[in-house]
Amino acid sequence: MGRLKTETAELHAVAEAKPLEEALIGGSINHGQYKKYLEQRWVVHRELEAAADRALASDSRLAALGLPGLYQTRNIEEDLAHLGADTASIRAMGGSEGLLAMIRGAGSTAVLMGIFYVFEGSKNGARYIAKSLAKAWGKADLQGLKYLDPHGEAQRGLWMKFREDMNAIAWSEAEQDAMVEAAKETFRAISALDDEIHAG
Ligand code: HEM
Repeated sequence: MGRLKTETAELHAVAEAKPLEEALIGGSINHGQYKKYLEQRWVVHRELEAAADRALASDSRLAALGLPGLYQTRNIEEDLAHLGADTASIRAMGGSEGLLAMIRGAGSTAVLMGIFYVFEGSKNGARYIAKSLAKAWGKADLQGLKYLDPHGEAQRGLWMKFREDMNAIAWSEAEQDAMVEAAKETFRAISALDDEIHAG
């Protein structure tokens, strides 16, 4: 986990500074863009979590992580329902297609967990985004913001547990290299997707 953090720090800084992310944290994103953001995250999380289910069935090392408790597909569906959006009409944008291809092509648990790490870690900053949007939109509750703040006060503890459980797995050197590479690729793909959403 130390390697993942250090070796993706530069790419995190790039992702965080993308106009879409700035609009999210600044509370200036409009409802249309927020809906599109959630729709494309839904496309990706659905695939990622289906792949994680398969990995759980085939690699016993993942059992302690409690991955299903971290899944986001249902949370996004709740947020979309709150916005009155229907998942049946969602089409993957180019950037999401790229992420889907990465997930489908992940040839190992290590690669898959490199991708998973990026989305799991993003919950840390997303809590601040949820607060910011709630304030900007004059909301007293976090309805419609479940994806951004799925765990509330439990977030910190869950992240620490994820870090400990990941570190407790005896990943080989080659697996660590593959995981870091996959995480980097994921950050790049998310930045590209964010730009696509922001432009369109
Ligand atoms: C407005 C945008 C963002 C802000 C303000 C932000 C902020 C943060 C902060 C403050 C942390 C550190 C949490 C802690 O350890 O206490 C963090 C961690 C992290 N964020 Fe972001 N973030 C943003 C966007 C993103 C995006 C778009 C992604 C990727 C989808 C991402 C992925 C991660 C990851 C993987 C970590 C964990 C780093 C580690 O290994 O410790 N973040 N973020």
